[in-house]
Amino acid sequence: MNHKKHLAIASALVVLVSGITYLILDAIYQLPAARSAEAVPIDELFRGHFILISFLFALVVVFMGYSLVAFRRRPGDDSDGEFIHGSNSLEVAWTVIPLFLVIGFGVWGWNVLDEVTASKPNEIMVEVTGQKWQWSFHYPELGQYANTPDLVVPVNTTIRLEMESRDVLHSFWVPEFRVKKDLLPGQKTTLRITPTDEGTYKIRCAEICGQRHAYMLADVRVLSATEYASWESEILAIASLPPAEQGQRLWQANCSSCHSLDGTALVGPTWQGIYGRQEALVDGSSVTVDEEYIQESIYEPNVKIVAGFQPNLMPQNYATILSDQDVANIIEFMKTLAQP
Ligand code: CUA
Repeated sequence: MNHKKHLAIASALVVLVSGITYLILDAIYQLPAARSAEAVPIDELFRGHFILISFLFALVVVFMGYSLVAFRRRPGDDSDGEFIHGSNSLEVAWTVIPLFLVIGFGVWGWNVLDEVTASKPNEIMVEVTGQKWQWSFHYPELGQYANTPDLVVPVNTTIRLEMESRDVLHSFWVPEFRVKKDLLPGQKTTLRITPTDEGTYKIRCAEICGQRHAYMLADVRVLSATEYASWESEILAIASLPPAEQGQRLWQANCSSCHSLDGTALVGPTWQGIYGRQEALVDGSSVTVDEEYIQESIYEPNVKIVAGFQPNLMPQNYATILSDQDVANIIEFMKTLAQP
């Protein structure tokens, strides 16, 4: 067989093995269905890499395997192999072609990154807070009641997430949206998502952050424009409720994960029968729970610590989140929480 024939067979095999390898890779690294605008260019980038990887794999393995079989030593053949000193054109080709391929993929990746991180018209901004081991979401445009444990967003709108951690590194990741970004303590990071399909998806923490890292989950609920508008007006309507009911909503949004209403001690003291009771403090003194004490405990939680509880657990930034009026509404709510 002459060289041309060998080359033709090997080339056909390269095409065949490339195709098979691509199908295998595609089956193994199956991603969940794409549900965001950002997912489209990212999936194309993945596909491009898979095709290139499959081709390079076939190129190396087929030529090696083919040579082992086609040019093996035949029985009785004791002659030396042909002496080849090298091939300049081949060496230039296998240096220059991969160089341009790598540069090309680099430029492609850069463009995709530019595209998915670029600011878009009519973005909705949501503040994301990560802490061990939960997510919380705040909608600054909807006022102080808009704190939610799940992310609620309208479909086909770009959401700009301004993210920060209260403690260690966390990472915001919704596999269906493809994009992912870390949350850092003391430094804001930004991530943009544009959900394209209504439905509920899981937000996962993708940065190992301690004991309950695997359970640091939340839902992202993608609503139609109409459903989102009615969700928004529900939140805005809270501001016109009677003070005690507003206080209850504030408790739900800000305090409920640490302060129970049923007598259970969580991270902080229960609010059951809290207003007017005597509270023993860690320094041995005691205090009556009145308006002044409550306001101080919300704005400067470390000044007086109730016996049996730890300092530094309550966030110390409520003075920037809750106004004096909010605190007054919370106190009105506390007054309705009688002793059992
Ligand atoms: Cu937060 Cu892992």
